[in-house]
Amino acid sequence: MNRFTGRVAIVTGAAGGIGLAACERFASEGATVVAVDLATTDLGAAVAAAESAGGTALAVGADVTKSDEVAGYVQAAMDNFGRVDVLFNNAGIEGTYYPMVDYPEADFDRVIAVNVRGVWLGIKYAVPAMIAGGGGAIVNTASVAGLFGSRGISPYSASKHAVAGLTKSAALELATSGVRVNAVCPAPIETRMMRSLETFIGGENADDIRKTLAERLPAQRYGEPHEVAALAAFLASDEASYITGSLYPIDGGYSAGR
Ligand SMILES: NC(=O)c1ccc[n+]([C@@H]2O[C@H](COP(=O)([O-])OP(=O)(O)OC[C@H]3O[C@@H](n4cnc5c(N)ncnc54)[C@H](O)[C@@H]3O)[C@@H](O)[C@H]2O)c1
Repeated sequence: MNRFTGRVAIVTGAAGGIGLAACERFASEGATVVAVDLATTDLGAAVAAAESAGGTALAVGADVTKSDEVAGYVQAAMDNFGRVDVLFNNAGIEGTYYPMVDYPEADFDRVIAVNVRGVWLGIKYAVPAMIAGGGGAIVNTASVAGLFGSRGISPYSASKHAVAGLTKSAALELATSGVRVNAVCPAPIETRMMRSLETFIGGENADDIRKTLAERLPAQRYGEPHEVAALAAFLASDEASYITGSLYPIDGGYSAGR
């Protein structure tokens, strides 16, 4: 498939598990990729993955919570490639793991800043560039924690419910503009984020936590980053031309019932 030939796709959180897989996927389908992550993060692997998939990629360091840096990554796409067709608004953090009454304020604020403000700023600055180029598609990374409550990670769950709200509201506002906005809602995926949560919850018994969490999923396994990237690529492509404002679980059956 070459659904993104001649198109420019921005991927935030590109140094992480899902972001890296998305860089590879978009590049493999012809996109020029703008790989965004914290300035302090090495984006070399994301660029290498895009290039070995046959594409071109530009690494841009940015903190998605800072409006000048978000404006900067959109400007970098415009300056280097002249257009923005896709934004995979994917950067996110898990925060820490405590009951709500014990949750540290600073951790709460950081989770909301990255996961909510960062997604909102991405939409805010990418949409005018997309409209200038005739339209585009935004895919936000929410979570199954944005569809259901989650013990121990209440700010994360709240932030992902907010991503759902931003997704639906943006889709309504942009429905006739040529810009579609959807979200993916993954269950546990094999990335650093789950390793961090497993360790937070289980300490030395992190492997047991991992086993328990996997067994809760109907599919009896975590998802793989490339599986999320495939859904994001579909939603960002013209094949999804009548889909906007929708939230897509990708969860091995988790949201189908208990
Ligand atoms: N892994 C899972 O189980 C899972 C499940 C559901 C949703 N998600 C979501 O998927 C997205 C990607 O997560 P992942 O699993 O690849 O985790 P990850 O930790 O591997 O990747 C997240 C990336 O976001 C980057 N990032 C964090 N704060 C940033 C900031 N302020 N500015 C720019 N970049 C920043 C990190 O540096 C990291 O590279 C996140 O939004 C996460 O909440 C993950």
